[in-house]
Amino acid sequence: MRTQVGIIGAGPAGLLLSHLLHLRGIDSVVLEARSREQIESTIRAGVLEQGTMDLLIEAGVGARMQAEGALHHGFELAFEGKRRRIDLTGLTGHSITVYAQHEVIKDLVAARVAADGAPRFGVSNVSIHGIETDSPSIRYQHEGETHDLQCDFVIGCDGSQGVSRAAIPQALRQDFERVYPFGWFGILCEGVPSSEELIYARHERGFALVSTRSPNVQRMYFQCDPKDSVDNWSDDRIWAELHARVDSHDGRQVVDGKIFQKNIVGMRSFVSTTMQHGRLFLAGDAAHIVPPTGAKGMNLAVADVRVLTRALSAFYTENRMDLLDGYSETALKRIWRAEHFSYWMTSMMHRIEGATPFEQQLQVAELEYVTTSRAAATAMAENYVGVAVA
Ligand code: FAD
Ligand code: DHB
Repeated sequence: MRTQVGIIGAGPAGLLLSHLLHLRGIDSVVLEARSREQIESTIRAGVLEQGTMDLLIEAGVGARMQAEGALHHGFELAFEGKRRRIDLTGLTGHSITVYAQHEVIKDLVAARVAADGAPRFGVSNVSIHGIETDSPSIRYQHEGETHDLQCDFVIGCDGSQGVSRAAIPQALRQDFERVYPFGWFGILCEGVPSSEELIYARHERGFALVSTRSPNVQRMYFQCDPKDSVDNWSDDRIWAELHARVDSHDGRQVVDGKIFQKNIVGMRSFVSTTMQHGRLFLAGDAAHIVPPTGAKGMNLAVADVRVLTRALSAFYTENRMDLLDGYSETALKRIWRAEHFSYWMTSMMHRIEGATPFEQQLQVAELEYVTTSRAAATAMAENYVGVAVA
């Protein structure tokens, strides 16, 4: 079987790339290890930058996001018993939308299916061949049979645990990594929103985040030991912890609800360069990971896809290789900015085991600064909405 662009992974990166290429008349095939039901129900990100929203709308898959997502013009920082607002729109002219990643996935899968480009779900033993030639291929198994997908380019959108990154020779790669000694405990609950906007809270017991999914479903997180088990956390214990960390001195409180989902995720920063070799290109989590504090992961995957779509389009319409040659360098500018922002937000907001009282006061001083200086608040806001790097 042959296609122009072979894509491994049906996360936001792979699906959006496939759809944007289709809109430009370029054929692709997406190979996905999991089932459609699995990818459409995995709970992950929630915050979409303006640029992500714009691209989804441009791709014709933004209607449900616009109808059901919640447009947010600011968020709150909670510390020392107070809450201070970062006015995203007032400071940058931009906003964000809270709309679950698995809803984006559903919209993209529906669009691919409608355009006769349904991903091939449930593939296994994926391997990449011939990337140093002009005719690479992807070998995989599907329903007991082995297939070879011949293509012009292979795009690795297979997330942090995929096979694509390792197909770039180790000698050409440099990995940069920081593993954090804490994780996030995430819950979904039935109930009304605790606040009109997201709350990022720094507390001596640890970080907490109040987010939302809809008027009736809320999403919250709190810092925990990454090796802890959800079984150690009764609903009562979770609510006590969230109240302790988020409730403010003026009486504003987190609103309890019926918890129906609990999970723990580890946190790390990771960048693998180069993001390309021969006819293989990496996009999204396959090449880089951020801790979730800055809400950047999915947005970075989408930003990579924007750069890659332009470059592949220039190749097919004008026979130009220059944008493809410069892909990694172009994408890495935004990636490193987001890596720094996510690291900075994480370091400022989390309880760091072993931190001295002096270091703890520095966290508070920094929060005071970003919530009182217009210049500092603007720097934070433009990174959060994603306009700090073009
Ligand atoms: P993935 O979504 O990981 O998709 C990769 C796909 O490839 C998967 O479907 C996988 O099954 C498939 N695959 C893997 N290996 C193979 C293989 N060998 N063969 C075939 N298929 C394969 N980001 C934000 O922007 N905003 C947020 O608010 C945010 N919050 C988050 C909160 C949490 C708790 C977590 C865990 C993440 C959060 N993120 C957030 C990060 C975001 O979810 C990821 O960055 C995003 O999913 C990356 O998309 P991707 O397409 O690159 O990779
Ligand atoms: C959500 C996740 C994040 O990582 C974040 O920074 C804000 C919101 C969420 O899942 O709603």
